[in-house]
Amino acid sequence: MASKTLLCLLICPLLFLQFHFSSAQTVVEASYWFPESGFPASDINSTLFTHLFCAFANLNSTTNQVTVSSSNNAPFSQFTSTVQLKNPSVKTLLSIGGGSSNQTAFASMASQSATRKTFIDSSIKLARSYGFLGLDLDWEYPQSAAEITNFGLLFKEWRSAVTAEATATGKPALLLTAAVYYASTVNGANYPIQSIASSCDWVNLMAYDFYGPTWSSVTNPPAQLFDPPSGSVSGSYGIKSWIQAGLNPKKMVFGMPFYGYAWKLVNANNHGFKAPSSGPVGSGDGSMGYKQIKAFITQSQATIVYNSSVVSDYCYSGTTWIGYDDIQSITAKVSYAKQQGLLGYFSWHVGVDNNWALSQRAKQTWGT
Ligand SMILES: *[C@@H]1O[C@H](CO)[C@@H](O)[C@H](O)[C@H]1NC(C)=O
Ligand SMILES: *[C@@H]1O[C@H](CO)[C@@H](O)[C@H](O)[C@H]1NC(C)=O
Ligand SMILES: *[C@@H]1O[C@H](CO)[C@@H](O)[C@H](O)[C@H]1NC(C)=O
Ligand SMILES: *[C@@H]1O[C@H](CO)[C@@H](O)[C@H](O)[C@H]1NC(C)=O
Repeated sequence: MASKTLLCLLICPLLFLQFHFSSAQTVVEASYWFPESGFPASDINSTLFTHLFCAFANLNSTTNQVTVSSSNNAPFSQFTSTVQLKNPSVKTLLSIGGGSSNQTAFASMASQSATRKTFIDSSIKLARSYGFLGLDLDWEYPQSAAEITNFGLLFKEWRSAVTAEATATGKPALLLTAAVYYASTVNGANYPIQSIASSCDWVNLMAYDFYGPTWSSVTNPPAQLFDPPSGSVSGSYGIKSWIQAGLNPKKMVFGMPFYGYAWKLVNANNHGFKAPSSGPVGSGDGSMGYKQIKAFITQSQATIVYNSSVVSDYCYSGTTWIGYDDIQSITAKVSYAKQQGLLGYFSWHVGVDNNWALSQRAKQTWGT
């Protein structure tokens, strides 16, 4: 009896410590992947990541269930086993929603406890049946104080359900994350910090798309880290706003774009920031993957400029001007995120890195 008690006194704290540390993330080095990018999941160098997000599952606005389109069935169900071939410890999360999803449907689902339950239960079932190790919600964005309160309720109930499912099945609990606005206030409503802190493993701060040629008529750094002298359109402002709102930086993962935006210059000789533009290059929104930007730079012998006071790269050739993140911006951003005590970083999206240059640099900069 006495020896058993002694043994427990010795071992129990060790078990507790081991449990405590093994369940907490120490760093998140992540990226998003989606099949429509055309980049095969089997080509992802998953040794460069601790977590990979597979995007996107959809919310059916009639049933309030999470579904995967029939064309994504196979790639999603194979995603985890595929990326774990090169890195058995990489964790995968199924991401729900996205920028082009129906945000009214999320608001409607989150507004009632019965529909929240349908959504939550179906998400857990789907994640388990596809072999994902976590779930991520990309609701872009709650539109009002009422909607953001419901966002908070949704996450509280989601966490309870995830915990209950883990207890019932004996499996490790699914990770639960949200991709959120870069700042802690969106559309005039404050994110529910208390609910996020107690329910989410972390939040992904989408610190990009500040400027683009379809909504900014002059050239601008699309994902600047600083907005001197004291502006609010920047990644650093976003981080500070979340910290001031009371979220522990260890619950934050900083988002960086592996893409830029191409503006058409009105005057080829006026090629700095705030240069007049006649709109996007090409027929779309002007967005260009890093790989494509590097190819453009080589082909057109574009001039490259790194501006360290805002932390953004841009390049220009003729009347094409592209704002984007190159090696120096990624390095400065990852250093900043680490210095501010954040949990890590993520990128959108893995398929447009150029021979892993940005992902490798990010990982080296964090130093793990
Ligand atoms: C994957 O990344 C690792 C770590 O940086 C590197 O050693 C390896 O060469 C990369 N593999 C490929 C195929 O690029
Ligand atoms: C939503 O679910 C309903 C009922 O199962 C189905 O008829 C409908 O096609 C689904 N909608 C979408 C967009 O998948
Ligand atoms: C979006 O969701 C709303 C609310 O559920 C629904 O009424 C509407 O039909 C949906 N729109 C589309 C395009 O599916
Ligand atoms: C960097 O950008 C800022 C903001 O537009 C500008 O004030 C500054 O002059 C630029 N620095 C350099 C070295 O061009």
